[in-house]
Amino acid sequence: MASRRRIASAPAPVAHAVGPAVVESGVDQVALAPGASILRRFAAPIDTLLREGVEAITALAPFRHMQTPGGFTMAVAMTNCGALGWVTDRRGYRYAPLDPDSGLPWPALPEAFRALAVRAARAAGFGDFEPDACLVNRYVPGARLSLHRDADERDFGQPIVSVSLGLPAVFLFGGARRKDRTQRVPLAHGDVVVWGGPARLFHHGVLALKDGEHALTGAQRINLTLRKAG
Ligand code: SIN
Ligand code: FE2
Repeated sequence: MASRRRIASAPAPVAHAVGPAVVESGVDQVALAPGASILRRFAAPIDTLLREGVEAITALAPFRHMQTPGGFTMAVAMTNCGALGWVTDRRGYRYAPLDPDSGLPWPALPEAFRALAVRAARAAGFGDFEPDACLVNRYVPGARLSLHRDADERDFGQPIVSVSLGLPAVFLFGGARRKDRTQRVPLAHGDVVVWGGPARLFHHGVLALKDGEHALTGAQRINLTLRKAG
């Protein structure tokens, strides 16, 4: 029988004492607004693992183009993993525990997705992120996501963590009001955007994807948006 051993681990960094920017050394962090920042290339070291995770998820819950309540078909193809998945149809936007296409629970949230998101949230200053939902977005050239707020979650005290893979895109980041000025933020493979606190309900969107090829994803951009929905 294997003997029980105590594995020594390094003491956890003290976020409150030293500030979020140095919790994880070497993070290239760009502030967008109070409560919002980009962690450049943060996900790049595990990009293959993330891509494999997306493959496993879409084998069980394929990408689909959902309908908006107004009857439009979304240009971005979507699926989900985790206890809850974001869905839209003629009845509205909501989180649902079952994939409406299969009637089955969404695939489990891969541990690598969860751990990455928790680490990114912490690096951005949100120490207790507990994601239970991951929306997986697939953009092909021409696909765009119009300006919106993520407001279907229960607890706006928890941030949004958004991971970009594959082709680059221009992220629009606005303010609390739809008409607020938007920043155009180029997002590259591996970049992670985190927004919460005073920026939690800020408007955002993605401009039409440009043509291109990426070694990991081909002619696509994949985005993982992790949230605490329930
Ligand atoms: C989203 O707002 O759900 C996705 C954002 C992105 O694709 O970067
Ligand atoms: Fe969003």
